[in-house]
Amino acid sequence: MSFYLTTAIDYVNGVPHLGHAYEKIATDVIARHMRQRGEDVFFLTGTDEHGEPVADSARANGLEPQQWADRNAARFKALWQRLGISNDFFIRTTDAQHEAKVQEVLQKVYDNGFVYKGVYEGWYCPRCADFKTEAEIIEGNRCPIHEIELTREHEENWFFKLSAFQSQLEAHFAQHPDFVQPARAMNEAAAFLEGGLQDISLSRSQISWGITVPWDPSHVFYVWFDALLNYYTALSYARDGEDLTDRYWPAQLHVIGKDILKFHTIFWPAVLLAADLPVPEHVFVHGFLMAADGRKMSKSLGNVLDPFEVLETYGVDALRYYLMREVVFGADGAVGLEGLAARYNSELANEYGNLASRTLAMIERYRAGVVPDVPLDPEIVREFGDLSERVKARFDNFELHGAIADTWELVRRLNRYVEERAPWQLAKDPAQSQALDQVLATLHEGIRAASVLLYPIVPGSAGKLLAALGAPDTDFAKAGLSAAGPLAGGVTVSSLPPLFPKRS
Ligand code: MSP
Repeated sequence: MSFYLTTAIDYVNGVPHLGHAYEKIATDVIARHMRQRGEDVFFLTGTDEHGEPVADSARANGLEPQQWADRNAARFKALWQRLGISNDFFIRTTDAQHEAKVQEVLQKVYDNGFVYKGVYEGWYCPRCADFKTEAEIIEGNRCPIHEIELTREHEENWFFKLSAFQSQLEAHFAQHPDFVQPARAMNEAAAFLEGGLQDISLSRSQISWGITVPWDPSHVFYVWFDALLNYYTALSYARDGEDLTDRYWPAQLHVIGKDILKFHTIFWPAVLLAADLPVPEHVFVHGFLMAADGRKMSKSLGNVLDPFEVLETYGVDALRYYLMREVVFGADGAVGLEGLAARYNSELANEYGNLASRTLAMIERYRAGVVPDVPLDPEIVREFGDLSERVKARFDNFELHGAIADTWELVRRLNRYVEERAPWQLAKDPAQSQALDQVLATLHEGIRAASVLLYPIVPGSAGKLLAALGAPDTDFAKAGLSAAGPLAGGVTVSSLPPLFPKRS
């Protein structure tokens, strides 16, 4: 089955930070897991390059918006490559094909009668590129997110008849209670809808950095319409000479942060309905990363966890693992270097890496590197025989942290198992040879299964370890533990330098 998933596209008014990275990593983890399951995955990310935030920052840096966008988009792309993000395409909203397709879709919305000319009078946040309702602003007419004073706008604009979709959206929400996840985010979207939908600006006449409105070239589209449509337009040109739209639309999953919930859960389905297009299956809303002190990360407070610094010292898998393990997907989470170092040393280096090295060394020493092809310890199979099914269910509910926690139970159990069974003692007594076979086969199989399950989180390390275990296959079908015997009995292992060298 096709599985099309997307991240938010990042503004190129600055350089990528940990919040951007977190979202891309989480989405990548889901994409990799779905590929393991044999799904026909298409994973999209990219950059949002029009609108005021970008034009303003370009000007502040003495560059043309396009030059500024080119420079910063390259930085996002480069970081995603370093983080192992396995996106199938990277869309830039300044791509000519995107621009043409946006015009085509919104022309359709116009032709369908959902656009009219009106005057916008109200509050606007240039940093959010968002027209705020009275209910959304805080004391002193300020933006609740940026806390800056909002500007009062009075402008003749083209309007989108959002209000015409009140009852259709209500019906959609009622029929698809998991359209927005987690439940808290669904409640927030439903509350916005219950407040009653008002028509919104579709175009702007006072800025020029955007996509021209085809029926009125003195206007450009309001950046959010241009941006949201990326999810749809990308499919039409991501592959040279091929249109993937029929194969992948509607999307299965949009992953976004909580600050842009309204756009994705209300505006976006309404635009699609207005253009006679099907609505995506799920929008998953993740939380915000905060500094370890519980405050917003900010350079001036000096509490920023810098992804580049972490990559230098700990490597990409440590960063991926830490963020996915530490922060409950869908909730805010506090992260910092101390917490990362602690989890790196105790979990990755000790519990996982060290367990793997010891197991490989014991198979080498006691069985000349060949994994005994014997039934596994029934006790371990009883406890973890259904682990892969549980992990699958976790993923289906987007409980990424839960998938890791469940898998880690196995890693910890195997650590206790080594201590309990003390293979180095068994090896001294020839009468215990069968018992030793069973222990080694069980350890090998347990680490193998755990590594298949952890592969989406730590692809580099799990991949290397699986190769050293002599069982490089990462198919999800190979993630189970079976009483009948190991999937990889009889294979030969090879040695491996420490996967996660201890760091002080
Ligand atoms: N360009 C819009 C999105 C358009 S999608 C059609 C935008 N860009 S952004 O660069 O400001 O944010 C991109 C994503 O990063 C959003 O999903 C946002 O929620 C997320 N994050 C930005 N800061 C974050 C944290 N501190 N923590 C977690 N995610 C955060 O909004």
